[in-house]
Amino acid sequence: MSDFAGWLLMGLAAAAIIALGWWLLIESEGVYLGRRVVIWLYDLYADRYDDIKRFRPDYDYMFLAQPIMERIAPHRSPLVLDVATGTGRLPLAMLDHALFQGRVIGVDMSRRMLSKAAAKLEGQEHRVALVWSPAEQLPFPDASFDVVTCLEALEFMTAPERVLGELARVLRPGGLLLITNRINTRLMPGKTFAAETLVARLEALGLRNVEIEYWQVDYDRVWACKEGVSQPTGARPLAEVLSCPRCGQLMVENDAVWRCPTGHFTAPVGRDGVVEML
Ligand SMILES: C[S@@+](CC[C@H](N)C(=O)[O-])C[C@H]1O[C@@H](n2cnc3c(N)ncnc32)[C@H](O)[C@@H]1O
Repeated sequence: MSDFAGWLLMGLAAAAIIALGWWLLIESEGVYLGRRVVIWLYDLYADRYDDIKRFRPDYDYMFLAQPIMERIAPHRSPLVLDVATGTGRLPLAMLDHALFQGRVIGVDMSRRMLSKAAAKLEGQEHRVALVWSPAEQLPFPDASFDVVTCLEALEFMTAPERVLGELARVLRPGGLLLITNRINTRLMPGKTFAAETLVARLEALGLRNVEIEYWQVDYDRVWACKEGVSQPTGARPLAEVLSCPRCGQLMVENDAVWRCPTGHFTAPVGRDGVVEML
């Protein structure tokens, strides 16, 4: 083999490795490498997340908070769970809505994303709680929430079906679900749902009236209602829903530490107010 061919092959191999690394770490945000890598990347980029995404509060009002409030009207004080809340986009949109009198609990597995959320939500602790916990095992009893949301996150979950099951489990009968479905699937094979598959999965979990609508270049918004009817759970405090991930009993807070009454589990509250279940 000539020197030129050798250099060419080495160049091609290096380009392929760089392209693979870019795809695995940047484009698909680590999801093919496992949950730890996904969360490590979010921790790493937490400081830059808002600058990269450049969310517009007026759009989040128009496309998130307002349609949620319209769909649950005349109820104005729901208990909302936002799974994979990131830097607090959904809680902020809800709290900015003039008619919203409810409470939001945001859950995420990236501690640094939650710290950013806590800083943005400072002063609103009576209306928002942030919990460091995996979406695959939500520390809440069945049927605890009036509204459950999960935005721009399912495709980065290593077990999305399990997460869907958890979202449905903690939603009360008659409650509202809002999730997003990634539609720009070119570079994420096997990590997104075809629309008909998603509808079938949601229906199998007891969700009804599934509506999929185009939202933005990468995502559809997906609305659904949980089958059945129940009284609104209302804006209950965290103490009425936070449960031990080991035995399911309600946790009790004392001196900035949440404890399972059976002594199975304790969760400190970070200096930024985040409840650390991990
Ligand atoms: C693209 S961000 C979306 C954040 C927010 N929902 C928004 O719309 O800005 C994805 C979020 O999912 C979180 N995440 C990924 N896998 C998770 C898991 N298994 N459990 C909980 N959170 C997870 C990440 O930490 C990250 O904050």
